[in-house]
Amino acid sequence: MFSYKISDSLYYVGVNDRKTELFERLVPLPYGVSYNSYLLIDEKVALFDSVEICYAEKTLEKIQNTLGGRNIDYLIIHHLEPDHSSGIQQCLDKYPDIQIICTKKAAEMLQGFYGINANIKTVNEGEEFSLGKHTLKFIFAPMVHWPEVMMTYEISEKILFSADAFGCFGTLDGGVLDNQLNVERYFPEMERYYVNIVGKYGLPVQTVLKKALNYPIETICSLHGPVWQQNIERVVGIYDRLSKQDGEDGVVIVYGSMYSHTEAMAEAIADGALSVTKNVILHDVSKSDISQIITDIFKYKGFVIGSPTYNGAIFPKVQDVVEKIELRGLKNRIFASFGSFTWAGMAVKLLNEFGERMKYEQIGSIEVKHSMKMSDYEAFYNLGKRIALRITED
Ligand code: FEO
Repeated sequence: MFSYKISDSLYYVGVNDRKTELFERLVPLPYGVSYNSYLLIDEKVALFDSVEICYAEKTLEKIQNTLGGRNIDYLIIHHLEPDHSSGIQQCLDKYPDIQIICTKKAAEMLQGFYGINANIKTVNEGEEFSLGKHTLKFIFAPMVHWPEVMMTYEISEKILFSADAFGCFGTLDGGVLDNQLNVERYFPEMERYYVNIVGKYGLPVQTVLKKALNYPIETICSLHGPVWQQNIERVVGIYDRLSKQDGEDGVVIVYGSMYSHTEAMAEAIADGALSVTKNVILHDVSKSDISQIITDIFKYKGFVIGSPTYNGAIFPKVQDVVEKIELRGLKNRIFASFGSFTWAGMAVKLLNEFGERMKYEQIGSIEVKHSMKMSDYEAFYNLGKRIALRITED
């Protein structure tokens, strides 16, 4: 197990997880995930975050091979979520003299999760801490995406250790630095990571972006995914756009359909939207993974949702989408709804109430009994066209 040299002083000692199927046992990991950990070697040695417990031995082997006989003086903890903290005890077992550096809230969690309460130094926002030639400055980042989170800015090399921020799903399949990798595959996974993991906390992300971006940054060391150097502007832009909840031009049509009647409506709406823009995405809730559905709803300005009435309510998998969007408080969408029913309509009424609760601009709503007829096609086509045209007006 070998570390990866980022600079004369900084080494990557993180690991790849290609075994876990569901992150947080919720979100699929088709391309795996990395748990990043970094070693800064100066007069003092600092380790930036541990890793998930199953991979702790791998990281410790990398550390040992990098340090030779030296010890770790400090463990800087940015985030206590167990994908980064469950390996801490193994680290302390091997290097018992480590002093832990973290926020006061992180210290409470260390005690609560792991019973660790000795040799901890809690730090304050803006506090500086010297390792020799390198000086660390701590930037608190509460709710990105837990309350104890902080980032660290290293002044001499202009490195931002950014905790989960600017992270993405996807393993590092050889290499660590973005300038060595085909990074295009990481950007969709960054969007899916942001929306599903951090998405509820847009305002805290905006606050910390303003603080952290006050410093000149040449390297971003996140807890997941590549180390960013050449693409800093782009990854900051992705986080900025998604956290502001500014949708791009485009229409996402999400529907549930048991026997294809609501599906036929969705396709007619897509036809209409496509007459205005190529950015039209159709998701059948029974086919697409919900993590990708909500990512696309975050990404685009137009949001059309359809459901048959099912047990006097919204089709269950469409209801899941509604709840996930409501939980994340997504704002500023141009909205329309549609659906079908057999003996009594209810789903479209409930979808419209959702749109009202979210304060979306409602463009239209169509509900059809039994099935869509040829004579109905134009109304659905026009609904798709109207929503796409409305978006281009902005
Ligand atoms: Fe990667 Fe919030 O943990």
